[in-house]
Amino acid sequence: MSRDWHEWHREYDDPVSPLSRRLATVRSALASVLASVPASRPVRLLSLCSGDGRDTLPVLAESSAPVSGVLVELDAELAARARAGAPAGIEVRTADAGTTASYADAAPVDVLMLCGIFGNVTDSDVARTVAAAPSLLTPGGHVIWTRGASVPHDPTSYDGDPSELVRSLFVQTGFEEVAFVRPDDASFRVGVARWPGPAGSPEPGRRLFAFV
Ligand SMILES: C[S@@+](CC[C@H](N)C(=O)[O-])C[C@H]1O[C@@H](n2cnc3c(N)ncnc32)[C@H](O)[C@@H]1O
Repeated sequence: MSRDWHEWHREYDDPVSPLSRRLATVRSALASVLASVPASRPVRLLSLCSGDGRDTLPVLAESSAPVSGVLVELDAELAARARAGAPAGIEVRTADAGTTASYADAAPVDVLMLCGIFGNVTDSDVARTVAAAPSLLTPGGHVIWTRGASVPHDPTSYDGDPSELVRSLFVQTGFEEVAFVRPDDASFRVGVARWPGPAGSPEPGRRLFAFV
């Protein structure tokens, strides 16, 4: 992997860091999505590149909605931390989230977390992942995604804020934008998109992205 992801997670220890603000925004988005799902059955969740689960597990602990699902994280230590804090019904897999082989059996889900991915992969991988997202979702399922505006990107492909590319890809794919958070004083961006189409069925063993 290209970065020290343990070091990256340590920025969460500073409660006023931009990353901690991003964390609060993602958690709040997840809480809103969970509250919007009808209570007739457990909510199904899939988090790719889930880190130590900090953006997800505390929200599940506070939610009244029963949630089952899968977190996928490549780093064994971060995955173990997530596993230690995961409630019943949440499985943490130490696996490559870049291929659907690691989680095709868990789809379709009501909530797909794509946080901390899009700034670490090529724009074509972003496009491939967004295009494949419907295959992982239930009708009315939501995606929560992030993209840092200051993360380097290919300036020849578009001008300005790279999160705009992500937003437009979701809309072109047929998603409805539910929320988009772009603080004036921080470079993180958080989006929530809803899939209005039919239930998905992922192609097993399809590579969507690889960290660069
Ligand atoms: C930017 S962090 C995001 C963590 C978490 N989603 C969050 O927002 O707090 C990226 C995470 O992706 C993990 N990662 C990198 N490549 C991966 C892959 N191919 N499959 C699964 N996880 C991967 C890293 O170990 C790291 O924990």
